[in-house]
Amino acid sequence: MSTERAVPSRARRARGFLLGVLALPALVAGCRQDMQDQPRYDADQASAFFADGRGNRPRVPGTVVHGSFSDNRAYHEGKENGQPVAVPPVELSAEVLARGRERYDIYCSPCHDRTGAGNGMIVQRGLRRPSSFHSQRLREAPAGYFFDVITNGFGIMLSYRAQVPVDDRWAIISYIRALQLSQNATIGDVPEGQRAALGQGAALGQGAALGQGAAGH
Ligand code: HEC
Repeated sequence: MSTERAVPSRARRARGFLLGVLALPALVAGCRQDMQDQPRYDADQASAFFADGRGNRPRVPGTVVHGSFSDNRAYHEGKENGQPVAVPPVELSAEVLARGRERYDIYCSPCHDRTGAGNGMIVQRGLRRPSSFHSQRLREAPAGYFFDVITNGFGIMLSYRAQVPVDDRWAIISYIRALQLSQNATIGDVPEGQRAALGQGAALGQGAALGQGAAGH
């Protein structure tokens, strides 16, 4: 029995090579896979695969947008170790107070009135009157308590979570602190350098210093 194989001639090998080269474009074209031909769902399309029958998949619980995670609980929840924070965890500035005043006047004053006494227009028209922010209890309440009330509501007061973003909540609370001080300040709260000006204004009967600031209310 012979094991010899016929060695292909040069001509035959060349022909084979040529055929291969010619067939290449056809092969490549056959491999092309269009993205639009992939199995996929359009938005809101029904699905026979998922148990709830929807192509849209719900967000995995606990998902946060990349780069937006913050575990600063004092800032986001107004609490530290489960306790309400005493003072707003944001830097205080004239801008923050101005923003807080603007937001307070928009979102809180209709009921709490512009001074925080709790006699806003909606209360004058019959809504239950809220406690004055100048009561000793609310003057001593920690900033985190106010944050909780704005975020989650309190009694018949609805939550303002959706209307007032976290930064604005702290601005409003900082402004409420200023309102509280405005009704309960003593001469000791005025910086020493400015006490003389205060006395002068009072003596001259002009609305100098503090008086002018309150004129807007
Ligand atoms: C539509 C009216 C209304 C608006 C607007 C409103 N509140 Fe109130 N708020 C109330 C009422 C009424 C209560 C008392 C609720 C109760 O006793 O059931 C209350 C209670 C509170 C308390 C709790 C007081 C306590 O006795 O412990 C705080 C703090 C407070 N509001 C802050 C705010 C702030 C800050 C805003 C603005 C972001 C705001 N509220 C907007 C009506 C309102």
